[in-house]
Amino acid sequence: MNIDSPTPSDAEATMFSHIPVLSRELIEGLAVHPGGHYLDATVGGGGHTRLLLEAALNVQVTAIDQDADALAAAQKYLAGYEEQVNFVYSNFATYEFTHGIFDGIIADLGVSSYHLDTPERGFSFRLAANLDMRMDRGQSLTAADVINDWDEGELAEIFFKYGEERLSRRIARRIVERRPLQTTVELAEAIASCVPPKYRYGRIHPATRVFQALRIVVNDELKVLETFLEKAPNSLVPGGRIAIISFHSLEDRIVKHSLRNSPLLRVLTKKPITAQESELAQNPRSRSAKLRIAERID
Ligand SMILES: C[S@@+](CC[C@H](N)C(=O)[O-])C[C@H]1O[C@@H](n2cnc3c(N)ncnc32)[C@H](O)[C@@H]1O
Repeated sequence: MNIDSPTPSDAEATMFSHIPVLSRELIEGLAVHPGGHYLDATVGGGGHTRLLLEAALNVQVTAIDQDADALAAAQKYLAGYEEQVNFVYSNFATYEFTHGIFDGIIADLGVSSYHLDTPERGFSFRLAANLDMRMDRGQSLTAADVINDWDEGELAEIFFKYGEERLSRRIARRIVERRPLQTTVELAEAIASCVPPKYRYGRIHPATRVFQALRIVVNDELKVLETFLEKAPNSLVPGGRIAIISFHSLEDRIVKHSLRNSPLLRVLTKKPITAQESELAQNPRSRSAKLRIAERID
């Protein structure tokens, strides 16, 4: 094992729970074969890695995560597979890819249910906590820094660009009026206080888009995804496959274009694969999941 990360508490490790999405489609699409070496770029709680290990004999997995809690949880969940899994604490964008070693690569993007359900990680506007939102708690920028230090114009721009929030300017103005804001709930209340009633009591909470935008900015999610998709194909063997699950249109657009424009890849999914009715009924998180797969050609 190759973990060099902050040590999380045991309690944190045991709280990790996450139902892997599009599991059957992902494993079938990757055509896992005995003795193959696979990269799980987002191991999370280890759900997809376990399915890779169970799909064929003697599979090896390199399992990356930028969150120490996730790695600890995955190690626990995959006890018994120590010989077959190499855990790596890294951002997938800064991982040093070696040429032509993986038979398949998977990434299941974004945050896990654990992140959303653990108040102190600060991802949820429903749970009171400091505005944090870092997946890697080793980095310094937090959501509180962005909310309290950035200009009104910059805030409006990120809410519009990464949250696709129509009321971005109005919300940015209210945030600046109410600063400093320290907690998720204070921020959610500030947002709710400046939107029309129709919006406040609509289908989704009025803070949803702003929270998405902040998460993307704090973790630089779109940039690291682009970098990863530029570097990863080179580390596939010829015929090796890359399968990416994304959860919102900004990510899916990057995945679609990067796979299509890579000279090393042939896209196998003309349209993204989405969850079947049975999965949707069991796991609401699968509602927005899109899976795209490509194969290395040379
Ligand atoms: C949706 S969860 C993955 C769940 C996993 N497939 C499972 O079955 O349990 C996403 C995980 O990817 C990690 N992650 C997100 N972006 C990352 C990045 N740029 N580099 C490394 N890990 C990342 C998060 O910390 C989180 O643990």
